[in-house]
Amino acid sequence: MKASHAPLIIVGAGIAGLCAALAAAPHPVRLLNRTRALRGAAADAATALAQGGIAAALAAGDDVNAHVDDTVCAGAGHNDHAAVAYLCAQAPAAIGWLRDQGVVFDGDPGETEFAREGGHRCARILHCGGDATGARILAALQERVQSARHVQWHRGVDVDGLLMRGDVVAGVRMRNAVGQEHCLTGSAVVLATGGIGGLFAATTNPVSAQGRGLALALAAQATLRDLEFVQFHPTALDLPGRVQLPLLTEVLRGVGAVLRDRLGRPLMQGEHAMADLAPRDVVARVVWQALRDGRGAFLHGEHLGLDWERDFPTVLGQCLAHGLDPRSRALPIQPAAHFHMGGIDVDLDGQSSVPGLYAVGEVACNGVHGANRLASNSLLEGVVYGRRVGAQAALARPPLTAISARHTLWTANAGASLGDNRLNWLRRSLADVLGPARIHARIIATRKRIAADPELAHSCQGRVALAMLNAAASRRSSLGAHYWAHLSSDDRADEAASMPHVSATVRNRSITGP
Ligand code: SIN
Repeated sequence: MKASHAPLIIVGAGIAGLCAALAAAPHPVRLLNRTRALRGAAADAATALAQGGIAAALAAGDDVNAHVDDTVCAGAGHNDHAAVAYLCAQAPAAIGWLRDQGVVFDGDPGETEFAREGGHRCARILHCGGDATGARILAALQERVQSARHVQWHRGVDVDGLLMRGDVVAGVRMRNAVGQEHCLTGSAVVLATGGIGGLFAATTNPVSAQGRGLALALAAQATLRDLEFVQFHPTALDLPGRVQLPLLTEVLRGVGAVLRDRLGRPLMQGEHAMADLAPRDVVARVVWQALRDGRGAFLHGEHLGLDWERDFPTVLGQCLAHGLDPRSRALPIQPAAHFHMGGIDVDLDGQSSVPGLYAVGEVACNGVHGANRLASNSLLEGVVYGRRVGAQAALARPPLTAISARHTLWTANAGASLGDNRLNWLRRSLADVLGPARIHARIIATRKRIAADPELAHSCQGRVALAMLNAAASRRSSLGAHYWAHLSSDDRADEAASMPHVSATVRNRSITGP
């Protein structure tokens, strides 16, 4: 196959991968994803689980600069300003494009409804089917991709290696459901593989979100960036013993739901000027601390007289499935790993530090989210940057013919997948040491334990965990979602004597290094 006719390979079929595939037209695309299922949790894409919606400055009185300011404020100023400016400026056009793909937002046409979430100064969030936004958008895009003549979609394949010619990414190695190996060369590879929530003991992501794209990028020696910044959603439904927890959308707090401890005392009072609608990192730390202190943490929406069936059918269904009725009782909550701000270091066109390798969506980091993502900017990122990166990557012409005579293909292996015991140990450890509040000595101790176990250290998940632990250990002051627990002198003594039992304390206003 001539390089110019070689397909663009896109790995991952969530919102970013699908938008990239559509935008690459007319260049041929091979779209690869792990599961065969298209709908629901089995679809293996966090997009399907996204509730709140998609942010765009379209409401009367709102404007793009306000959206930019809120994004940078939530991101603790660590954002790449050009990336934010592009995201927010393109948001209204992205909504128009989604409508062209068949997405109908609640209130369309003419009276689009806007919801409010944490960190937003006004109601700015468009949604579909109440809290079914991600699932509805995903379904519309899947339909478009299925009828796009330039896209061949292979479902049920797992990519576990990147094919390299010299230091250029030239394709992928993949396995089907019965373990048969196939290699596919292409004009370039776009990773749109999602995040890392499945490496934590509690997550709102699909459990399969275990950093496979990061492991592939590490194997190809691509630069990763900002890996220490993991966002915890403050209101996951607390179902002990389960890794994947149902999300209780922040829009509930946008319509008046409040966080209280088990004695009914408001959790957010005096913690932040925006109280229950403070940026997510702040709220997650307060909830985390309340649970540590044994005070309990609950989301109260039962008094609001909401139309749950119309506006929150996903939350209602998930709660009822677990015997909890949000119409009549408060819901027990806990913070859960939700979004990775860090990822493969890319420019605004998605180009990584390795020729031929692009990344977009949660697996990528172009700096748009800074140290903490603003609510409902992730579906937006998937559309805005998915389209930009797909179009740019389709133009990529790595110098394959020039180097192919001298360099044969070799595979950069992502590493084997861990068995259940080690994976569960890793999940508990990362939840403990890379959670909403962190203690340096524990990070170092966990890093040592992983490094001392070759099976763990060389696995796909272990490599990613080590990279995240290294990043967290090297950022010595708190910033956004990376937060050092404040230790009293007693705590410090305990910490030195007995690391696993120290009771760290979070004080949201004291930003202190370890
Ligand atoms: C939510 O609905 O609370 C989550 C939205 C997001 O992650 O942006």
